[in-house]
This record gives sequence, C-alpha cells and structure tokens, in this order.
Amino acid sequence: MKHLLKLGDLTSQEILEILDLADQLKYEQKNGIEHPYLKGKTLGMIFQKASTRTRVSFETGMVQLGGYPLFLSSADLQIGRGEPVQDTARVLSRYLDGIMIRTYAQKEVEDLAKFGSIPVINGLTDFAHPCQILADLMTIREHKKHLEGRRLAWIGDGNNMANSMIVGTLKMGMQIAVACPEGYEPDAGVLAFAREYGDRFSLVRDPKEAAADADVVVTDVWASMGQEGDAAVRREAFRGYQINDALLAVAKPDAMVQHCLPAHRGEEITEDVLEAHAGEIFDEAENRLHAQKAVMVLLMRD
Ligand code: CP
Ligand code: NVA
Repeated sequence: MKHLLKLGDLTSQEILEILDLADQLKYEQKNGIEHPYLKGKTLGMIFQKASTRTRVSFETGMVQLGGYPLFLSSADLQIGRGEPVQDTARVLSRYLDGIMIRTYAQKEVEDLAKFGSIPVINGLTDFAHPCQILADLMTIREHKKHLEGRRLAWIGDGNNMANSMIVGTLKMGMQIAVACPEGYEPDAGVLAFAREYGDRFSLVRDPKEAAADADVVVTDVWASMGQEGDAAVRREAFRGYQINDALLAVAKPDAMVQHCLPAHRGEEITEDVLEAHAGEIFDEAENRLHAQKAVMVLLMRD
C-alpha cells in the first residue's frame, strides 16, 4: 500500500491489516502506552471542504504518533488560486512525509499521488470516503465481533459514503443492501464491482427491503458538501428514506446504527434513533482517530 486513494485499491488483507493495527493503536492510546511511530514526520492536510472529525482526528492522531500535522486550507494555498496540482504535488513532496487531502474531484487526489513522491490519503472526495469506512468497519467489528457474513443496510443517497461502504463491506465478506431513490444510485463503476459479488450485494428502492434482518443500518446526509443548492429537491426525493423506529423494527433486534456525521435530525435519521444509538455512532466518530493512525503508520513509517 503506497497511498489510500480509494478502498478499491486495497486488498482484503490490507484492509484487515489496517483494522488490526487500529485496534492495537486504540489499546495503546487507552492504556497510556506511548506509540511515537511517526516521530519527526510531517503530514500536510489540504482542506477544500469543511471538516470537524477528519481535521481534528488526523491532527491529533499525528501528534499522538510523535509527528507534526500542518493544516492547509485551500483558501490560503496557491492551489486555491489555480496553481496546478502536479506542481503542488511536487513541491509538497519536497517538504512533507505525507499528504491528506479533502476535495471535490477524485482525479485531484489521484493526480496528487501520481505527480508527488510521498503517500497521499483521501480525506473525502465526491467519489469516496475511505477513512470513514475504515472507522466504520472497525466499529462494526468491535460491536459485532466479526465482519464476515454480517448484513449491512445502506439507506439513502448513493454518495461518496455509499460508494466506499459497498467496496469496504464486500471486500470484508459482508452482505450489503442499498436502498436509494431512482436517480441517486451509487457510482456505476462501484455497482459493476458489486455485481461481481452475486447475492452478497443488492440494490433496491424500498428501505424496508434493505433493512430486513440487518445487523447494521447506515445512512448519511441527503445533500453532501457541494450539493447545498439541491437540498430542497433532495429533501423531496429522499422522503421515506429515513432511519426511524419503524425502519429499525424490521432489522435484527440488536441491530446497530452508524452515521458518519454530521447528522441532520429529522431528515435522514430521527432524533430518537440517533440518541438511542449514540454509543455506537460516537464510537464510530472516535474510531476515525485510531483507523487513520493505522493508515498513517502503515504508509509513513520508516
Ligand atoms: N464524517 C466526517 O468526515 O466528518 P467531517 O466532515 O467533520 O470531517
Ligand atoms: N456525504 C457527506 C459526508 C460528510 C462526512 C459529504 O460528502 O458531505
């Protein structure tokens, strides 16, 4: 593994290695065991979109590993004024040991990796959110003991989260059913990948069909960053695609709920469900820290 651009680039074994190391790093952090595996290393973090969890977990994680994070807002970088990514990549490669980038186009992340000479980590694009799914898989394994054979229902938008969730769950031996309205399907390439997994993947319209007998029920906002202008149209399109008590009633009685956050209560998830499952949802948020530390160690350690 040279970069983390999308989960499709990783083997199941590599994902497992990240999850196992994440568990170890969580144990070390919880027990006050020093783990300066990236002593003296620097990570540049480019943000072209807002963030709470990704920024703070990468920044804190790097410090816990003995390294130094640099927050680089695109508003203050020359990239925000049009400096090409191939130049930015080569310049930053001369200063840093790794780059995390949150942006719009997946191609920008791929180009950063192509033209630079240091590891690149995708902190979310319109296409993928691999770091979040690694944290989700870690959380599901913590709560459900194993991933293989577990059934996950994705309810709502076929967005960056859905794309990465499909790839991550299938690579880890899980089953995934996606329920989305017509016109809001996941990426066509991801769907083609998923079809190769036979009946471990299904795409349906009815949220109850997807949630039936599920071990994990997951959703995300109806309008992602950059889609704010379509929010009203999307609110209409996704009516009925809400995680609420009625939907959870068809899942397994001990089903867990995941949401990458930020959540819009009353839209994709009810306040009641979010609060009833806050334990798992905030474990998920916490595990961003541990999963990303594992990714950084695997990519950046000498
Ligand atoms: N889930 C997630 O990526 O959160 P932020 O947008 O706050 O980073
Ligand atoms: N799909 C959401 C995820 C936010 C973490 C977005 O892209 O805005």
